Amino acid sequence: MPPLPRDNRLDATLALLKDPYRFISKQCRVYGADLFETRLMLRKTICMTGPEGARLFYDQSRFMRHGAMIGRIQKTLLGRGGVQGLDDAAHRHRKQMFMSLMTPERIEGLIATTAEEWQARARPWALKDEIVLYDELHELLTRAACGWAGVPLPEAQVRQRTREITALFDAAGSVGPKHWRARLARKRADRWIENVVVQIRSRQIRPPVESAARVIAEHRGLDGELLSPHVAAVEVLNVIRPIVAIGVYITFVAHALHHYPECRSKLEAGGDGSYPEFFVQEVRRFYPFFPAVAALVRSDFDWMGYRFPSGRRVILDLYGTNHDARTWDSPEAFQPERFREWDGSPFNFVPQGGGDHNANHRCAGEWITIELMKQASDFLTRRIRYHVPEQDLRIDYSRLPALPQSRFIISRVRLHA
Ligand code: HEM
Repeated sequence: MPPLPRDNRLDATLALLKDPYRFISKQCRVYGADLFETRLMLRKTICMTGPEGARLFYDQSRFMRHGAMIGRIQKTLLGRGGVQGLDDAAHRHRKQMFMSLMTPERIEGLIATTAEEWQARARPWALKDEIVLYDELHELLTRAACGWAGVPLPEAQVRQRTREITALFDAAGSVGPKHWRARLARKRADRWIENVVVQIRSRQIRPPVESAARVIAEHRGLDGELLSPHVAAVEVLNVIRPIVAIGVYITFVAHALHHYPECRSKLEAGGDGSYPEFFVQEVRRFYPFFPAVAALVRSDFDWMGYRFPSGRRVILDLYGTNHDARTWDSPEAFQPERFREWDGSPFNFVPQGGGDHNANHRCAGEWITIELMKQASDFLTRRIRYHVPEQDLRIDYSRLPALPQSRFIISRVRLHA
């Protein structure tokens, strides 16, 4: 059996941090393979890219998640004890709780709440010389997410809570003081939501039965017990945090509208029925957000002539799979119409993970993400007018999450009647 192609560095962590979205696919091109072995944070790791790698990665008889998560990410972005680290029956049971929040009626409720926030937040924009769209979206989406999830957000706390939730995803991938800020934010946010869970259980507050906070606070595990307040808080934040993080994609929506005026014209005209969806799908494919996901090999197996030993960490390259030329013609071109022909495979387009939403770890919030991005596209093309002043719109690919350098400044905002 041939050995796996091997990166000859002692440890590739720095190379990965320098270019987190493109490191794996670049190295795979060097080796002429879909996978290679390296060390990340001194631990042997197999890196894979492409649809066949994704199909393998989501085979749960071969991989598990428990123990796979990188510690720094768990202590900031995700928290401890959440659905991401569960396997098998425990995972399916917890995942069902999340999926029950994603009915068309519940998603419509979130869209309606968010529409009110767009209207209310955008009015003061017209009175300012300019605003930074990415920064404005944090508060707008925090208000919408908490409102929809049934988490009380007193006006006096809006700023502080917005800062904490934002730090969970905006600073999690950093090193140094920013990373420590994210860890502190995680502690504070966990404590805040633990309190909310305790208050729901003691009926001091009564959010609607179908709200995320109520469903999670009252959820019982396979053992028939309520989740600990800490784990319940982590799961409520697994709903609120990523809704606020959709601000990253909305910033890229604005970026794409600016760089591809022909797409903007189609959206302004109302497009044909499917065009808004093709547009946001292309934003999710083209722009960088979540670079990769990790799992551990359950027990030895062979794949394509290579040995995967028990316990080995395996990382799947999401960004590179979305830019794989075997699936996507001219992958570096922004072409929403390509989604007219897309085969719908759960393994070749994986911005939020792949496989099956119920059975695998694929993102529970994919429909919410698509709908909130469509709503933002509509708002930015048909509800307001604005000017895009001179600024540095280059995307910083070394940052996690990647963003335009300027965070997208707009000026001369006018609301349509
Ligand atoms: C899982 C990305 C929005 C809830 C994931 C995964 C990714 C991802 C890459 C992991 C997939 C895997 O491990 O195989 C994103 C991105 C989003 C987003 C880029 C855009 C902002 C959302 C939203 C929600 C959500 C809006 C809920 C309201 C979850 C949950 C999981 C998850 C609960 C864990 C699923 C599991 O472990 O079974 N997401 N997500 N996400 N996402 Fe999202």
